[in-house]
Amino acid sequence: MPLILLLGKQRSFLVDTNQKTFSSQYGKIDLTKAKIGRKIKSSLGYEFSVVQPTILDFLRKCKRGPQIITPKDAAQIIAVTGVSNGWRCLDLGGGSGFLTLFLGNAVAPNGSLVTYEKSKPNSQIIARNIKFCGLDNVKVKNKDAAKFTEKTLDLITIDIPDAEKLIKKCYRSLKAGGWFCCYSPHIEQQIKVRKEMDKLDFINVRTMENIQRDWKSFKGYTHPRYGLGHTGFLTFGRKV
Ligand SMILES: C[S@@+](CC[C@H](N)C(=O)[O-])C[C@H]1O[C@@H](n2cnc3c(N)ncnc32)[C@H](O)[C@@H]1O
Repeated sequence: MPLILLLGKQRSFLVDTNQKTFSSQYGKIDLTKAKIGRKIKSSLGYEFSVVQPTILDFLRKCKRGPQIITPKDAAQIIAVTGVSNGWRCLDLGGGSGFLTLFLGNAVAPNGSLVTYEKSKPNSQIIARNIKFCGLDNVKVKNKDAAKFTEKTLDLITIDIPDAEKLIKKCYRSLKAGGWFCCYSPHIEQQIKVRKEMDKLDFINVRTMENIQRDWKSFKGYTHPRYGLGHTGFLTFGRKV
């Protein structure tokens, strides 16, 4: 599906260019003239820039099942590990596939990402989201995370309730220098994970909560916006 982003001051739209026209409350747009890099006007006179969508534009339109790892936490994984093009990654507990796709995009085009998701409906959501985002380097396996077979990995991420049971296997499946990252919504889970990690030769072990707060202005007065609060704890470690 060739998708473009119509970027407007009022609103933006992710649009399938297989259609000839696109209609919204801002009027009709002739999509035959919507070429990347151009500006285009709707029938009601609103102007839109035609741009290539980013992974975040796609993710906003993806189907959601279980609670996702938000972009602020997913971005922190990139900031700590440096994951980039060419890395071989494994994501255990794919859920809605948000972290899967965010990281799959970061390692494209030469890297790959496999995710294990034990629930059939959730793995179908992930498969649908992978197709929608057009990432052919990302695969979902509808299997229990404990059954993963991938080895010599650059990065393993895990977001399942009993993650501590898989730490040893994850450690063995990383290559030297590879990173492990566990996302735990609750501190009790994080403590169990950290206890298992401490039995192994992980270095750079670190747990963090990533708190992000936007600010807003109203009638000349500015203050923090109280949006998303606690999401989860991220625990990192690197194999020696
Ligand atoms: C909170 S969601 C993960 C969300 C995901 N990180 C995202 O960003 O969309 C946890 C998922 O792990 C799956 N899960 C739990 N235990 C599992 C296991 N042992 N093997 C595979 N998947 C598992 C659940 O079915 C659920 O879909």
